[in-house]
Amino acid sequence: MSKHRSIQSHIQLLARYLAPEWRAALVLGVVLLLSIGLQLVNPQIVRGFIDAAQAQAEPSHLLLAAGTFLAAGMGVQAMRLVSTYLSTDLGFRTTNALRSDLARHLLGLDMSFHKERTPGELIERIDGDVTALSNFFTQFVVRLLGNGILIIGIVALLIREDWRVGLIMGALAALGLTGLIRYGGAAVADSAAEREAYADMYGFIEERLAGLDDIRSNGSALYTLRRYYEALRNVYWAATTAWDKRMIVIRIAAVMWGVGQTLALALGIIYFQRGILTIGAVYMVIHYTYMLLEPLEQIARQLQDLQKAAAGVERISDLMALEPQIKGHGLRTLGEGALPIAFDNVSFAYEDDEPVLDRVSFRLEAGSKLGLLGRTGSGKTTLTRLLFRLYDPTAGAIRLGDTVLHDLEPDYVRRKVGMVTQEVQLFRASVRDNLTFFDATITDDDILRVIDVVGLTEWFRRLPEGLDTELAPNGGDLSAGQAQLLAFARVFLTDPSIVVLDEPSSRLDPATERLLEKAMNRLLEGRTGIIIAHRLTTVQRVDDIMIIDDGHVAEFGRRQDLVSDPHSHFSELLATGMQEAFA
Ligand SMILES: Nc1ncnc2c1ncn2[C@@H]1O[C@H](COP(=O)(O)OP(=O)(O)OP(=O)(O)O)[C@@H](O)[C@H]1O
Ligand SMILES: [Mg+2]
Repeated sequence: MSKHRSIQSHIQLLARYLAPEWRAALVLGVVLLLSIGLQLVNPQIVRGFIDAAQAQAEPSHLLLAAGTFLAAGMGVQAMRLVSTYLSTDLGFRTTNALRSDLARHLLGLDMSFHKERTPGELIERIDGDVTALSNFFTQFVVRLLGNGILIIGIVALLIREDWRVGLIMGALAALGLTGLIRYGGAAVADSAAEREAYADMYGFIEERLAGLDDIRSNGSALYTLRRYYEALRNVYWAATTAWDKRMIVIRIAAVMWGVGQTLALALGIIYFQRGILTIGAVYMVIHYTYMLLEPLEQIARQLQDLQKAAAGVERISDLMALEPQIKGHGLRTLGEGALPIAFDNVSFAYEDDEPVLDRVSFRLEAGSKLGLLGRTGSGKTTLTRLLFRLYDPTAGAIRLGDTVLHDLEPDYVRRKVGMVTQEVQLFRASVRDNLTFFDATITDDDILRVIDVVGLTEWFRRLPEGLDTELAPNGGDLSAGQAQLLAFARVFLTDPSIVVLDEPSSRLDPATERLLEKAMNRLLEGRTGIIIAHRLTTVQRVDDIMIIDDGHVAEFGRRQDLVSDPHSHFSELLATGMQEAFA
């Protein structure tokens, strides 16, 4: 990214997230500037106090000076308190807005994007990269500006006292600032590398945690640990390198300050001995020089943060620039009720040169049920993913009713098509949230009705807290059959026009099977259905049969016709008890 574009994206990001908070930002700016102004006053008071004391002034005069000093000091601290509170608050609000925008954006990206990244990496990118922006959002501009003013103010006051002292200190401050600006960007690249190393490490951790059972059972714990140490080592080197580069600006500020202090002390002693400055004025010169450190260091720290922020901004802008390939053309016009489905020469490949579906064509009447059969890896699940618009076909078209799927908004398609996958994903959340997917507009009455429809009432009665009962992560306290039934209930609640069932191949006990069958019947009522069937009983219920072999349609027809034709694939499958289909 060019420097110019980078600065532009900084400003855009700032403007976009600060604009809604402009009042808070304004108050914060005023408070910060006031506290900087107050800091300039204090040494003047002390100087007056010291000189007055030397001149044997009235005690009341001294008391007044001391009182003013205290009040100004307290004022500075109070404003610090207020500004810290305000900027933390503002920082949280602006970055949270950015976090949720980023999360929403990422969730909208294609499956192919998510396939290449682990959730852990994305979490770290959303949270870690954005956290680095907090200070940049709230303080950067004001602090840079304020401290610039403070430096100019100090130098001006020093010049007023003695132009030589003022010029020397001014030159020093200018030298320091030049160094800061020169090295202000030294750590951006390394900071980006640091953030990336962190994202990699969290991605690794998340993936291994998700696969903990497999890792244990395969005895690959030691290997995994070794890989973890490697990721950790990368983080260590990336972090120390970046830190070291970021420290350059701090070191410059520290050296400038040391030189400045020495000079101020030496000049003070000489001028006092020659009677050019009073002891109070010497104190003030030294104190102002001391105060020069503060803004220099603050600017250095801001630059340090800016470099972290810049790394974050670049990575965030990169993510935001990604566009989902799967987009609609605004259409949301399918109407209610069952819909016919047509596949028209549909081909698809996950990777360029490996076709998974090859010119698949078929037509399903509204309300009819299709049984989809085929060996493992033949492309059954893939076909349903296309229908759900998780991916788009590489060639050909899918039609729902008269509408080409490609023109429909993806989120609309996903409301009209209900999908129960082979593996039901349950969340560590209440039964209610698991069923409604956190959609608060669905009433408890609806949920209870659906629980009854799918035949989970028995199970539901035993729950200690009803709909508020928390499920264990991944549905750990449910049987496979119960999880399936919950997935049915979910689909019921969205009332889709088309239902896709990827039947689990795992064996279930006869009682649960009967429950599932009943629920399946209810779910398919009045809807067009595609069922990837593994059970004979399921197959016996459908109207049409399609057998896929290696991405081709090997056979398609009405079930009755295929059954009565002894030479059909389907008849052969039935003769072998369907074992061959899944061999
Ligand atoms: N996300 C993916 N990325 C790349 N290739 C994939 C992906 N999912 C599936 N495939 C490949 O596509 C082919 C078809 O897979 P698909 O999951 O559609 O088969 P299936 O018929 O559903 O099999 P099963 O009966 O085992 O569920 C397989 O060769 C598989 O390796
Ligand atoms: Mg499958």
